[in-house]
Amino acid sequence: MDQIDKKFYTKEDLQTVLNISEATINNWFRTGVIPNTWKKNSFTKHEFSDLINYLSSSTKLKGRANRSLADGNSTCYLGITTKERRNLLKKAIQNYQDLTIELEEGVFSLALAALRSAGLLAEEWFYKPKSKLDFFLISWIKEKQINIAKALKYFEDFYIPNLNDDFLGAFYQSVQSVAAKSQRGSFYTPASLLQDIHIPLNKKILDPCCGSGSILLRVLNPKHDSDQIFAWDIDDTALKICRINLTLFFNDPNISPHIELYDSVFANKTTLTKQTEQTKFDYIITNPPWGSKYSATQKRILLQKYPELGTCESYSIVLFNSLRKLAPNGYLVFFLPHSFLNVSSHANIRKYLAKKGLPMKVMLLGNSFQGVMSEAIRLEINNTKAYPAEIKVFRSHEQQPTVISNNTFRIKNFIIPATASNADLNLMNKIYSSKHLLLEDNAKFALGIVTGNNNQHLLPRPTSNSEAIYRGKDIDHFRFLNPAFYLEFKPDKYQQVAPLELYRQPKIVYRFIADKLVCALDKQGRLLLNSANLFIPTLDYPIETIVSLFNSKLYTYLYRKMYYSKKVLRNHLESLPLPFLNSKQHALLKEIHDNFYLYKDSPEKLNHAVYSFFNLTVQEIRLIEDL
Ligand SMILES: C[S@@+](CC[C@H](N)C(=O)[O-])C[C@H]1O[C@@H](n2cnc3c(N)ncnc32)[C@H](O)[C@@H]1O
Repeated sequence: MDQIDKKFYTKEDLQTVLNISEATINNWFRTGVIPNTWKKNSFTKHEFSDLINYLSSSTKLKGRANRSLADGNSTCYLGITTKERRNLLKKAIQNYQDLTIELEEGVFSLALAALRSAGLLAEEWFYKPKSKLDFFLISWIKEKQINIAKALKYFEDFYIPNLNDDFLGAFYQSVQSVAAKSQRGSFYTPASLLQDIHIPLNKKILDPCCGSGSILLRVLNPKHDSDQIFAWDIDDTALKICRINLTLFFNDPNISPHIELYDSVFANKTTLTKQTEQTKFDYIITNPPWGSKYSATQKRILLQKYPELGTCESYSIVLFNSLRKLAPNGYLVFFLPHSFLNVSSHANIRKYLAKKGLPMKVMLLGNSFQGVMSEAIRLEINNTKAYPAEIKVFRSHEQQPTVISNNTFRIKNFIIPATASNADLNLMNKIYSSKHLLLEDNAKFALGIVTGNNNQHLLPRPTSNSEAIYRGKDIDHFRFLNPAFYLEFKPDKYQQVAPLELYRQPKIVYRFIADKLVCALDKQGRLLLNSANLFIPTLDYPIETIVSLFNSKLYTYLYRKMYYSKKVLRNHLESLPLPFLNSKQHALLKEIHDNFYLYKDSPEKLNHAVYSFFNLTVQEIRLIEDL
């Protein structure tokens, strides 16, 4: 009210004071958000003040403010490709925002508009319900206490042609806050990743994390039997959209798919009928939640419930549970982050898969999910023993797959080196089949110091009380560069410090963020910042040999092909082979190490020495050199 002071006020003044559009105001008048008593073009000062107070205390305005604060609404188009359709979606989102209604009301009203547009709503559906759809809508109204008279009006001008592109799901995704989506791990699958999946008729099909059913819309055929379709999720609103979507898809208000509120991670037995609980499915296809956030108690429950998995990661658990529901000869398709293939926390589910010995396919999808940083894969598993238990990796539809044998799959932590070619896989097999030791259980690892505030603690120049601290950047192959920072070392002042003796004894220091291996032997007890980590081998194997091997091109090649990572993790180093060498070979690597330490030597001598230890052929060396 401070902004304007006059005798009479108009709708424009309302816009200015509340910072909302003209369309919003008109919508509020039309739908009764602003009661009829205020339905005029000019207000006295007193009326205007009352109206502002009324709107400011209404949940509508609060909801609006919260929503715009929370999400920064980025429209999510999913499978909606045409400009016209996208504009329609934007219009629906705009209308919803202008109305400032609850999310559930918005979804319900838009669903009515979609059903009406498709001719699936009978004239008297509300007063004389007949179809399963009518009864479903009425129970939705009762459950959420929706005002039907208003709901019918909210999107009454909308004509939404039925294109089975999950228009409603796109709306729901777009208007939800990013926080809510990431809490549930709900980022929906782009339609383009599903185009080539065709499910034969007469199959029992399950999507255990179906969301609004967008995957089902893409892989089903209207000739499928809706009674054979099962769709589960923990998001009740998404499930309701899923039901509407399937009704639209089959163009039938009397379909009876099995849509259930069911938790595929915690697998609480009480929510499914006994019959559904025991059902085996011919096709299980889903994009499970990636990285759902669980409380400490929930994590404890999951670790107890799935001791064989040893992880609380939602997608590993959904995969594990789904495999148990897959019928003989059944087919499973999961969308997963690339890290599923090589991160050590998923080693147990990979081991479980390796032991099952089933044929699998992996398709590399890159960064194809909107709003998700991780690269994705499509994992397919055929529950049959009729084909060899190997993994075929496809980079694109055109390219021939590479084939990972069950043996390669077992190299270390059951990692699936999906970016390796067939030639790479042969080379890796050759290297791992020569006798070797590993750092696993044979080294102490520690992280560099996390100061908690580098600006405060790091000094650009030495002082009488300070000592140098080395970052990842300050480590080169075999040697340390001049430090850029100094620290007056007060361990109890920092956020995280390893036991001091680990910094102060001879150790191997390596760059943490790197797509290659870079390490150096430190005998001077240097301090490290957290972009540099360390390990201290405890096995009977010359430390200089390890530094030389890890600095060679062959070991960077192994790291990249196996892990496809930008961060050098402990388990990566623990899995690199330390070959059995004779004393002459160790001496050669020590000499190379010492020369490098003193002056930057040529790496050729090192690389060729390492190649010769593994008897690599010219072609194999070329693979490494061409990396
Ligand atoms: C990545 S979204 C996939 C949605 C949809 N299948 C698609 O790809 O378009 C993940 C879905 O899993 C659901 N979800 C999360 N945790 C779940 C659980 N424990 N059990 C079942 N569904 C879950 C979310 O609500 C969300 O709808």
